[in-house]
Amino acid sequence: VAPADECLRLLMSRREVREYLPRPVPEELVMEVLEAGRVAGSAKNRQPWSFILVRDPERLAELSRFGQSAQHLARAAFGVVIVRSDEYFQDPFDAGRAAQNMMLAAHMLGLGSCPISLHNQEGARRFLGVPEGYVVQVCIAFGFAAPRAPRGKLLRRPLEELLHFERW
Ligand SMILES: Cc1cc2nc3c(=O)[nH]c(=O)nc-3n(C[C@H](O)[C@H](O)[C@H](O)COP(=O)(O)O)c2cc1C
Repeated sequence: VAPADECLRLLMSRREVREYLPRPVPEELVMEVLEAGRVAGSAKNRQPWSFILVRDPERLAELSRFGQSAQHLARAAFGVVIVRSDEYFQDPFDAGRAAQNMMLAAHMLGLGSCPISLHNQEGARRFLGVPEGYVVQVCIAFGFAAPRAPRGKLLRRPLEELLHFERW
C-alpha cells in the first residue's frame, strides 16, 4: 500500500480530464478500473449497479450525442455507463460511490477520466438496451490524458462556507 501522504496527494490532485490521447488502454487497466467500481460499498450491500463498457469508437461517438456537454466522450479510449436500480433511496448515492471509485482508481493507474451526464435518458437507454426500471445514472469517459496547458485553479467552496458543527 502506498504511504498515506501519497494516497492523499493522489486523491487531492484528481481533476476532470476531457482531452485524451488516441492511444488504447491495456485490457488489465480497464479491468482494474471496473474492479474498483465493483468493490464499492453500498447501502445494505445491495450493489444496485450494472456497468456497460463501451469501447467501439463509433458507439462512443453515438453515445456522446445523448449528453449536452459530452463531446469528449467521442475521443475517449473507453466509457463506462453506470446503470442503477430505482428501488431504494440510497441507490443514486451508491452509484456515485462506484463511479468515484473507478475515477480514483483510474487516476492512480495514470488514466484521466470525466463524468458525463446523458441528459437524453430515454435515448441513451434505448441505445444501450437498458431494460425498463433501471436508471442510466452517468457515463464516465476514460483515457490517457493528452498533454496540455496547466489546469486552472481548483474552484471549490471553502470549508468555512459549507461546514456546520453539531447542527446547521
Ligand atoms: C454527476 C456529474 C455529471 C457531470 N457531467 C458532466 C458533463 O456532462 N460534461 C462535462 O464536461 N463534465 C461533467 N461533469 C464534470 C463536472 O463539470 C466537474 O466535476 C466539475 O466542474 C469540477 O471539475 P474539476 O474537478 O476539474 O474542478 C460532471 C460531474 C458530475 C459529478
